Amino acid sequence: MSHILHLDASARSQRSITRQLTSAFVAQWLDWQPDAVVTHRDVGSHPPPMVSQSWIAAAFAGEARTDEQRELLSVSDTLIDEVVAADLVLIGTPMYNYGMPAALKAWFDQIIRVDRTFTFDLARGDQPLEPVLDGKQVVVMTSSGEFGFGAGELNAAHDHLVPHIRSCARYLGAETFEHLAVEYQEFGDERHDASMRAAFDALPTLVKQLQDFASRHEKVA
Ligand SMILES: Cc1cc2nc3c(=O)[nH]c(=O)nc-3n(C[C@H](O)[C@H](O)[C@H](O)COP(=O)(O)O)c2cc1C
Repeated sequence: MSHILHLDASARSQRSITRQLTSAFVAQWLDWQPDAVVTHRDVGSHPPPMVSQSWIAAAFAGEARTDEQRELLSVSDTLIDEVVAADLVLIGTPMYNYGMPAALKAWFDQIIRVDRTFTFDLARGDQPLEPVLDGKQVVVMTSSGEFGFGAGELNAAHDHLVPHIRSCARYLGAETFEHLAVEYQEFGDERHDASMRAAFDALPTLVKQLQDFASRHEKVA
């Protein structure tokens, strides 16, 4: 039995393309494995708090952490526990101003935390950070109003969404990273229709590929 952490970062509700994509993904997964556990974390509707000076001090307090500091980290602890419990992290996110929505960035800031999702040791030389988690599948579904954000395409230089998530995904314990994109939303023309069709048509193959990985993992575990 697998455990999916399903995140949605769009500020929109029903008309959100990424929410439609992630819910179709989850529905197809549940067709295969009805007893899979799905935790839905809707950061688009309920953004996590931003980190503050006191939050950072609490995160780095280690053994000396006070009760008040523990309380300050309680949201972070809950969000991290959800990642730890998951085998697959599914992120549906719009492109806002060429990057991720602030709500999703706030989520990453809450979960990328010293001694929970990474360790820091200067003895490691120039790369002192090391992720704690591993073995997870990370799936990212994006939608953008413009188009051509892929490598070598028209707007490739402006894609600060997927490369950023890819860098952060190390700390989710990503062993695999998959990305499905819808583009052209602002044009609303046949290119957008084709992009939507291609993304939804790709879902069954993607789900099957990830399920094969999940099954192999389960046998080994
Ligand atoms: C605040 C805001 C900022 C946006 N910024 C960009 C952008 O920088 N580049 C782009 O291609 N589309 C941009 N868009 C368009 C969205 O990426 C597009 O509407 C997408 O479908 C939103 O995802 P959703 O349908 O899941 O809500 C922006 C939309 C909003 C509301």
